[in-house]
Amino acid sequence: MITDDLLLRYARPGPRYTSYPTVPAWTEDPPDPWLHEGLAQLDGAVSVYVHIPFCKEQCSFCGCNMVVSGLQRVGDRYLDVLQKQLETLPLPGRRLPAVRLHLGGGTPTWLSPAQLRRLFSLIRARFLVLPGAEVGVEVDPDVTTDEHLHVLAELGVTRISLGVQSLDPDVLARVRRPQQGRRVAELLDLARSFDMSGLNLDLMYGLPGQSPARFARTLDEVVAMGPDRIALFGYAHVPWLKPHQRSLGEGELPTPLQRAQLYRLAQRRLAGAGYRPIGLDHFARVDDALAMGANDGTLRRDFMGYTDRPAAPLIGLGMSAISELPDRFLQQRSKLGSWYKAIERGLPQLERGRMLTADDKLRAFVIERIMCTLKLSFDEVEQRFGLKMQDHFRSELDRLAPLERDGLVLRTEAGLQVPEDARILVRRVAQVFDAYLGGSSEGLRFSQAV
Ligand SMILES: C[S@@+](CC[C@H](N)C(=O)[O-])C[C@H]1O[C@@H](n2cnc3c(N)ncnc32)[C@H](O)[C@@H]1O
Ligand code: SF4
Repeated sequence: MITDDLLLRYARPGPRYTSYPTVPAWTEDPPDPWLHEGLAQLDGAVSVYVHIPFCKEQCSFCGCNMVVSGLQRVGDRYLDVLQKQLETLPLPGRRLPAVRLHLGGGTPTWLSPAQLRRLFSLIRARFLVLPGAEVGVEVDPDVTTDEHLHVLAELGVTRISLGVQSLDPDVLARVRRPQQGRRVAELLDLARSFDMSGLNLDLMYGLPGQSPARFARTLDEVVAMGPDRIALFGYAHVPWLKPHQRSLGEGELPTPLQRAQLYRLAQRRLAGAGYRPIGLDHFARVDDALAMGANDGTLRRDFMGYTDRPAAPLIGLGMSAISELPDRFLQQRSKLGSWYKAIERGLPQLERGRMLTADDKLRAFVIERIMCTLKLSFDEVEQRFGLKMQDHFRSELDRLAPLERDGLVLRTEAGLQVPEDARILVRRVAQVFDAYLGGSSEGLRFSQAV
């Protein structure tokens, strides 16, 4: 049983796992041949992520890599540079098959419908988006028109994810996010009329003014809209990385215990409404593909988030985008000006990278299984990697002992299991297998774990 005392003890800052290895282990400014050689090895279907950084305004809580602009011609310039990046991308062959395409941001629907058409034709010139592929777009309801959605449907988009965060006018005003609940519901209905599926709403907990009663109202309104999926992100307050977050005074923010209460409130409310928890921070209706993937153990997590699709190398395009290739992770320049300069003038375009060792891949697998399924089968790891868990991970398994005593994880001969009431602390268990933290996050500055 995870008591409030335990929650507080384990709520200290920790890493936010999407993929592994953690950031401190990356190499700065790796040479571009790292990208060229990585792409040259590809021979099957891939996933593609395109980052569109622009937003009309900046929400005070925003932790994304975004740029404020009200000028549509800024989007034209971005697409010009993206075109150059795509045309010069050293892919093996003119067009690679793609099983998954995702536009993230920022706000992809900040682009006009005409700009979105151009973007898709640029992508399709280098990638053959296969029939049945998942084509997803992140959408901010405040800037997304019906025309945007018509055009996205026509371009083959199969799912959208709407940033909602809160439906409470007081919370929205405090975080400077203009938004109408009615518009969210309209866009969901319109997306359904185009037969899109896996429709997702992003919510956040830990925002200023978010009392349990107010948050419960937002949850009830969201449930009434009936999305297929809900992503519930804990607000990451990292003002040393995102100085604009200082406008949210720390005194205004819920305490770690209040955050945990909000998370648990959402867990109960969403379970009561027929949503299954997925990994750390997602919920899906039981008939949704993500829930089915969680049930049959095929759920995966990469830099784009949770997915039920089989693993495919990920090519990241645009400013700050991350490529996750079989033996390396690579990130594009993360500032708009330096990314433009790099692509336009043929200067080094990579800001960070990591060549994966055999040990990185093993640990990535272990961390991904724990983060996705809250379980680890020792037999599966042993078969796949040809090792003995007790020998290879002796010190990690020893370090799990206090977590076992505190009820964060159960250990048997067969493997590990994080109990349902410790789901919120699953990162604490995964972290033990992170070689670059040595089982501790001391000295590193991460966001709140709960
Ligand atoms: C790129 S944004 C989503 C699309 C669009 N820009 C919007 O806001 O509607 C991705 C999501 O990241 C989440 N997010 C942004 N800043 C965050 C932070 N500081 N901590 C946790 N989640 C955050 C929000 O839930 C947001 O919807
Ligand atoms: S949360 Fe979304 S809309 Fe708000 S600033 Fe960040 S990326 Fe833009």
